[in-house]
Amino acid sequence: MFDLSKRAVVLTGATGNIGSTVLRAYLGQGAHVAIPVRDLARGDALRASLGDLAGTPDDPRVLVQAADPGDRAAIEGFVEQVVRAWGRLDVVANLIGGYAASDAASGDLAAYRAYWDQKVATIVAATTACLRPMRARGYGRVVNVASTAALKGEKGAAGYAMANAALLRWTESLAEEVKREGITANSVLPRIIDNAENRAAMPKADPSRWATAAEIAAVVLFLSTDEASGITGSAIPVTART
Ligand SMILES: NC(=O)c1ccc[n+]([C@@H]2O[C@H](COP(=O)([O-])OP(=O)(O)OC[C@H]3O[C@@H](n4cnc5c(N)ncnc54)[C@H](OP(=O)(O)O)[C@@H]3O)[C@@H](O)[C@H]2O)c1
Repeated sequence: MFDLSKRAVVLTGATGNIGSTVLRAYLGQGAHVAIPVRDLARGDALRASLGDLAGTPDDPRVLVQAADPGDRAAIEGFVEQVVRAWGRLDVVANLIGGYAASDAASGDLAAYRAYWDQKVATIVAATTACLRPMRARGYGRVVNVASTAALKGEKGAAGYAMANAALLRWTESLAEEVKREGITANSVLPRIIDNAENRAAMPKADPSRWATAAEIAAVVLFLSTDEASGITGSAIPVTART
């Protein structure tokens, strides 16, 4: 596929369903991947599950550290450590998120804000922390995974749609601001993923029509490569066979 063996990646949301698939895909293409986690035990379990992909004591390919992406000082400290360890930071891919129901008619601002804090505040803090070393070297790839709900609101998911739309617009704005600095910023928009949770929630649906985590990972990886230098400010729906 593509050679990422000279690239250092910060991956948020790596402990999630799609995030762990994206992590394996990066490692499979030779990248070094640094993972900030809220719960170090979960991060250590994830690294242990990687086997040889995690590298060797001489060349650890995965760096896991406790750093809450929602805590700006913590995530900035984490990024400084990544740059100290590997001397570079080329890519940030953000897989933080989750689904949260909230009606539009309820006007439940607290629910909307909670999803904003989970999705937008975390990803903005993590990405801006990574931008500093990227701008210093004149190279960077930012890949934010949002949802097709960013394009069109959905019944019972107002806060989710609002936050995803905000993240999409922020990513586009960032792309415009850094487009002459060797840095691209793009969004990937899944609709529904084939995973155990969605199968349980929709037992009558045909999961073969849903995108797989591997299909999302392939798009995230491509947008992380040198070869994707011509694409910025885009939002790529990955809706598979729906
Ligand atoms: N699954 C789908 O059908 C689907 C469809 C469309 C879009 N998406 C989007 O794709 C992305 C990944 O989805 P997924 O299915 O992999 O989700 P997931 O399995 O629920 O994983 C979510 C990840 O986000 C992290 N996270 C959640 N809240 C956080 C917070 N406040 N601060 C820091 N980290 C936080 C979790 O870390 P912890 O280990 O610390 O909890 C975990 O690593 C999400 O943005 C989701 O909205 C998913």
